[in-house]
Amino acid sequence: MRPPDGSQPVLLVVGGCGGLVGRAVLAEFSRDHRIRSVHRHAAPGEATAGVDWVPADVARVRDWAPLLEGVATVLNLAWYRHGSARRFRPLAAGLLRLVDAAQRAGVPRFVHVSVPDAPASLEQGLPYLAFKRSVDRALESSSLPYAILRPTMLFGERDRLLTVMLRTMLRYRRFPMFGEGRYHVSPLAAADLARILRQESERGARTNRVVGGPQRWVYRDLTDRMFGILGAVPRYVRLSPASSVRLARLMETLGSSRLYAYEVEWLLSDRLGPPAYEGLAQPLAAVEPFLHEEAARLRGRAPSVAA
Ligand SMILES: NC(=O)c1ccc[n+]([C@@H]2O[C@H](COP(=O)([O-])OP(=O)(O)OC[C@H]3O[C@@H](n4cnc5c(N)ncnc54)[C@H](OP(=O)(O)O)[C@@H]3O)[C@@H](O)[C@H]2O)c1
Repeated sequence: MRPPDGSQPVLLVVGGCGGLVGRAVLAEFSRDHRIRSVHRHAAPGEATAGVDWVPADVARVRDWAPLLEGVATVLNLAWYRHGSARRFRPLAAGLLRLVDAAQRAGVPRFVHVSVPDAPASLEQGLPYLAFKRSVDRALESSSLPYAILRPTMLFGERDRLLTVMLRTMLRYRRFPMFGEGRYHVSPLAAADLARILRQESERGARTNRVVGGPQRWVYRDLTDRMFGILGAVPRYVRLSPASSVRLARLMETLGSSRLYAYEVEWLLSDRLGPPAYEGLAQPLAAVEPFLHEEAARLRGRAPSVAA
């Protein structure tokens, strides 16, 4: 365990360093920050990095003041991928208490990871989005120096989108194609998001930005490329947009967490291909090398030189 260094600024990671973004945040910030993290389940990487873990459900934290003591930056990552209003309401309430307490404590920076725009029906009717926006709005109407970053589809080791798609293609040699697949995605590396979070937090400006990766893919070109990287011919089970949403809803009802109906609707709405984030010192990572590595890992061997 790393000894605590009193000279380093304290970063409070709400949602902790065990998730996809949290792991990248840990790698990015642990060299020059003391990290205090609030989340529920032990995260193996945190113990070795000397993170001060406060085991708690954000929904149940009544008084944030002690956790905010000496904090230079609050970074909020906590959210669920799916659930009902019953699940999201208390989490959002805990985050609203956090915003309020941070304001009262005069926290110098507050960074919050949110999501890109979605169709109006989802924005208003889906608890995942409606409660997320309530946190976004609370920050925007606070007096805090905030940065709201809204990345599109993220990739990284153990992600739950591209890696799951590759695994499905490898296993079944077929993949569902929602509609014509002509909508766009611009995947962003979780490690790049962590660098962006650092850069935007240091700017201290009141900002709200949608963030994309370096390449804006036509979805079907990306899935064709994924089949190619697996050394397979692209084969699709074509579904109309309505059938695609119905299939995802059925999977959801059967308890699958592979894909949710709202994710299909969002994809079909062509809002997940925002332009690349500009302004980092180093270029954003392209998705293809990652896909090669994951494909090799799934096949149980090292990446080939051609990769
Ligand atoms: N992944 C993407 O493609 C993507 C794209 C756009 C935006 N985002 C946003 O980025 C943020 C991080 O996403 P991610 O993909 O890293 O998610 P993730 O892997 O599911 O990590 C989220 C973390 O939040 C913590 N958490 C959830 N509910 C909590 C609660 N009630 N109290 C305390 N901690 C809680 C969980 O830790 P414990 O289980 O230990 O509590 C979990 O490790 C989220 O806000 C998400 O909406 C993600």
